[in-house]
Amino acid sequence: MSASPAPVEKQGERVEKLSGVDAVVLVGGQGTRLRPLTLSAPKPMLPTAGVPFLTHLLSRIRAAGITHVVLGTSYKASVFEEYFGDGSRLGLELEYVVEDTPLGTGGGIRNAASRLRAEHIMVFNGDILSGVDLGAVAHSHLDNDADVTLHLVKVADPRAFGCVPTDADGRVLAFLEKTENPPADQINAGCYVFKRSVLEEIPADRPVSVERETFPGLLERGARLQGHVDTSYWLDLGTPAAFVKGSADLVRGLAPSDALPGPTGEAIVLDGALVREGAKLVNGSTIGAGAQVGPGATVDGSVVFDGAVIGANAVVTGSVIGANARIGDGAVLRGAVIGDGAVVGARCELLEGLRLWPGASLADGSVRFSHDA
Ligand code: GTP
Repeated sequence: MSASPAPVEKQGERVEKLSGVDAVVLVGGQGTRLRPLTLSAPKPMLPTAGVPFLTHLLSRIRAAGITHVVLGTSYKASVFEEYFGDGSRLGLELEYVVEDTPLGTGGGIRNAASRLRAEHIMVFNGDILSGVDLGAVAHSHLDNDADVTLHLVKVADPRAFGCVPTDADGRVLAFLEKTENPPADQINAGCYVFKRSVLEEIPADRPVSVERETFPGLLERGARLQGHVDTSYWLDLGTPAAFVKGSADLVRGLAPSDALPGPTGEAIVLDGALVREGAKLVNGSTIGAGAQVGPGATVDGSVVFDGAVIGANAVVTGSVIGANARIGDGAVLRGAVIGDGAVVGARCELLEGLRLWPGASLADGSVRFSHDA
């Protein structure tokens, strides 16, 4: 069952310590904010920089020295095992647990308990792109003998998030809801280390939110919750705008990944894609396998899925073009999400957040949608 381990890049004590840690990755969410893309694939399986997003996360987990990973699935559960199998291609031993009814983040973690073997468990939200040193998070946890350690990230504007203040020793003081005047600029980054005994206290077989129920409950009863504050790259890929930014940052080498050979420049063009003369691919775009970009077209900071067609002189900026979708000649798209197989007619303009559902069709020149129209 276990795979021959891939070479581990980071050697030394950190890697040794992490080899005694199991990982749980939560991938069961419906990804509603990313519809219509998530109608056909769960969010962690959407292609980013040429591979499913989850590949980047799993590769980072492996590079940190963790080899046993349990995926907590629910929405479109079978897709994960079909793609990753036993994990051996990534040097991992992958197991899958399925929630027939979604159990939320806490319930999803608890549902993996029967498969866990290590005394300390690193838990990941499956939609976070982060450069945090996983070894350092585990060290904080072990050195402080914490019940749970949370990766906390500092953000420029914490008003949009609940914040998590800590004391001088890094001990978590509170979990605060969104407010206009947050007392700290650090937020829950969606990566935790649990003592297994604490993880097993989460109620089984009912939905539990780890953020709203488990952590505040642990704090109330005096458990040691440690914050590991960090300022490295961090992005939650939950929205279309974040998804295109994350993919572009991966392509340009601004976001860390152990699944790519290194920075690839302005664009990644996958096998069998055809880019016609005079087309421009810039700002970290990805052109999927078998896709076509017409002459004079510009694809700027966008993700074009497999088999999609971008017409001549079209301009596609900060957008996601679903598999086999067709964008007509001279069309202009900015911040748009086009579902699989949808058709945008020639010279249509779709600006700022417009989403077209799979298979929908807009006739040539029929739409000019923008805030200033
Ligand atoms: P939205 O519907 O757009 O909010 O996305 P989401 O469903 O992914 O929810 P959210 O971004 O809050 O989820 C954070 C992480 O937890 C993601 O990696 C989800 O896949 C995962 N997740 C959310 N709910 C569940 C659940 O009920 N079970 C499991 N196993 N994972 C979950």
